Amino acid sequence: MMQLGTVEQKELLRRGFSRRNFGRFATMLAAGATLPFSSESALAQLSMVKNMPADAVKINANENPLGPCPEAAEAMHNIIQKGGRYLYEETFTMQETLAEMEGLKPSYITPYAGSSAPLHQAVLAFTSPTKPFVTGDPGYEAGERAAEFIGSKVIRVPLTKTYAHDVVAMAKASPNAGLIYICNPNNPTGTLTSREDIDYIMANKPAGSILLLDEAYIHISGAPVASDLVAADKDVIILRTFSKIYGMAGLRAGAALGRPDLLKKIMPYSAGALPVTAMVGATASLKVKDLVPKRRKIIADTREDVFAYLTKNNFKFVPSVSNKFMVDTGRPGREIIAAMQKEHVYIGRVWPSWPTYVRVTVGTPEEMAKFKIAFSKVMAA
Ligand SMILES: Cc1ncc(COP(=O)(O)O)c(C=O)c1O
Repeated sequence: MMQLGTVEQKELLRRGFSRRNFGRFATMLAAGATLPFSSESALAQLSMVKNMPADAVKINANENPLGPCPEAAEAMHNIIQKGGRYLYEETFTMQETLAEMEGLKPSYITPYAGSSAPLHQAVLAFTSPTKPFVTGDPGYEAGERAAEFIGSKVIRVPLTKTYAHDVVAMAKASPNAGLIYICNPNNPTGTLTSREDIDYIMANKPAGSILLLDEAYIHISGAPVASDLVAADKDVIILRTFSKIYGMAGLRAGAALGRPDLLKKIMPYSAGALPVTAMVGATASLKVKDLVPKRRKIIADTREDVFAYLTKNNFKFVPSVSNKFMVDTGRPGREIIAAMQKEHVYIGRVWPSWPTYVRVTVGTPEEMAKFKIAFSKVMAA
């Protein structure tokens, strides 16, 4: 196992961690991707059987069945022969391309291999036993699990009646909050927290706490991005990923957007060079002008078609603007997940606070046609 140096140990003790926490802190630093809460697909697998059949409909991990766009695929193909080199310049090009699009200086952006890494690293850098991780409930679990794993306190604040983050309650949740995590639109509900509410939390959060704004699904929703808060030097770190609208989950590209001093605080927890395939694929994706609106429409059309089916059949669901939605099965959600698996349809997981709801990812129209048949059958049983 990786050992922490004496300087790191002293720093952790100063932040209120005990020696008991050291092993887990070191595990997080070393293991990353192998932790059970590390990513959407790892979390999805927790409630799944292994060895999915070849004809499985995989709508459990909020992946994008469209995959990378042709321009990204070509760029990645072309770089493979040069893959014997680290090619740091491709990371700089991705950083500069994203910076220009977001109206930020390049120093306000750090590229990563996906957004799980900066999410975990922000937890390591800004939370502790005395500096809680404040999150929405139900919310994306990777950050809260990472916080619990290292011994930081987690405070879960239920969503409002309209399924937005309860920014008033979150701002008041702890005077020592280390991170306030808002996923917009939220995972699993696919619902938005308004810009007004985000401005509220920026203005009313405790001094010293950082807003961790996870915009993994923002382009799918069409809501405006909040990078202007970063440009205005606020206490905010925004997470972006190429795993969702850009369809590159397995290729691993993402970024953290924030003031250079905040990005510097999470940097010591990073490791090494980034995959050049992912970097050139990300840059190529960003340069395709109509990619985002086109893909947003494809996902929205499929989602609205499934919603029409759910409405027609009197199933209760949360109206989502993202690539997943929560549907109320009226019985323990786990039973429905298991029954759907028997039909070879693999849907997402259940959140403890909403035990009768299951999360379903929006797949292709063909996949959702299979979902509808299986869901009607399972719910009628
Ligand atoms: C809200 C949210 N944040 C972050 C991630 C991390 O994804 P990745 O590491 O692939 O960027 C996911 C994955 O599904 C997610 O749903």
